Amino acid sequence: MAVEQSRRDFLGMAFGGVAAVGGVFALGAMKASWDPLPSVISAGFTTVDLSPMEMGEIRTIEWRKLPVFILKKSSDIAKNSARDVVVGDASYTVVIGLCTHLGCIPSWRPRTQDFICACHGGVFDASGVNTFGPPPRPLDIPPFKIDGTKLVLGEEGPEYAKLVGNA
Ligand code: FES
Repeated sequence: MAVEQSRRDFLGMAFGGVAAVGGVFALGAMKASWDPLPSVISAGFTTVDLSPMEMGEIRTIEWRKLPVFILKKSSDIAKNSARDVVVGDASYTVVIGLCTHLGCIPSWRPRTQDFICACHGGVFDASGVNTFGPPPRPLDIPPFKIDGTKLVLGEEGPEYAKLVGNA
């Protein structure tokens, strides 16, 4: 009887242990489904002060592990009211620096004032519009908002909403 009792106790404990481990896994799975998508978890807001930029200067910054090109347009670079980010009296090109063909990183060519993608020869103008080669569409504009002279990447402000309606 005592042996039978302790055997039952053992089985009960063993089952309880398995159930507890299973419960932990189930909770883990549930938590995974509650958590935001990985891209959202790693998403931060990147704030860039545009005021030190010179006319014609281009910078590449990292946002959510992506390169973002910021070009402050000088007077000899064509403006594009459908795509330019206007801060104060300056116009900027703000685009994700990944070719819309297969994702290579294009380079800025100051002499011709355009972006060239070395992978298959795609070309984008200074506003990021595809002008030659296989890229099927302009460079993407990342979500942003303007805060004084600062550009906040990752937040959709009214200026961004206006551009994506046009671009
Ligand atoms: S990846 Fe840029 S042209 Fe193909």
